Amino acid sequence: MQRVPHIISAFVVLMLSWYYFFSLGRPFGINYLNAIAAFSAVFIIGMSFLLGPIARFVPALREDLQYRKTFGLWGYVLASVHLALVPMVLLQNSREMTLADGASMAFAAVAFMIFTLMAITSTGKWIATLGYENWKSLQRTGYIAMAAMIFHVALLEGGVFFSRTTGIAAMAFILFVFLLRAIVLILGIRKVQKPNLQ
Ligand code: HEM
Repeated sequence: MQRVPHIISAFVVLMLSWYYFFSLGRPFGINYLNAIAAFSAVFIIGMSFLLGPIARFVPALREDLQYRKTFGLWGYVLASVHLALVPMVLLQNSREMTLADGASMAFAAVAFMIFTLMAITSTGKWIATLGYENWKSLQRTGYIAMAAMIFHVALLEGGVFFSRTTGIAAMAFILFVFLLRAIVLILGIRKVQKPNLQ
């Protein structure tokens, strides 16, 4: 069963690759490899945050909480690939960087720093070191990172992603994760037992 998050993550990357290279017929190149890595990171990180609220609504899915870490780490790896490709994308682009682009980069840096902290501390050793409540609070800062991620995409290229299917789907998905989280908090649905991170 541990294969599930790996298979789903691979499926997300394949779906986005099919969308850009076959459905849209875009040329194989850095720009679209970057877009695939970046949007895959958004969806897969979103899934790791979706599991928590979903397990509150559907107790039968509590078992799937164990996949949060794997989704989170796959999302982080893809965000890191995106970050590694960005300099080459920017070198290829002749587009003028605007103030909004600058703000987008600032939000991106905040998101990436928080995701880095979460990835580093995603082990049982760090739970023991930080104490469960502190560790849980640190993991919850992930919601700030996800909000920063939305602003990063929304502010890029004068808001061009509000008119692109990938942009609309990614931002709608992350807003859906926030909505579920808000409903859980408003309904005060009881939380599940502590995770056992090896
Ligand atoms: C310090 C970290 C980051 C930097 C410097 C950065 C920079 C950039 C840049 C320059 C672009 C525009 C690329 C282009 O013109 O085609 C971009 C696009 C994008 N970024 Fe980031 N980013 C960072 C982190 C992230 C993170 C953490 C995520 C999500 C997990 C993310 C998601 C996206 C998405 C979805 C796009 C649109 C991709 C496209 O279609 O071009 N970025 N980023």
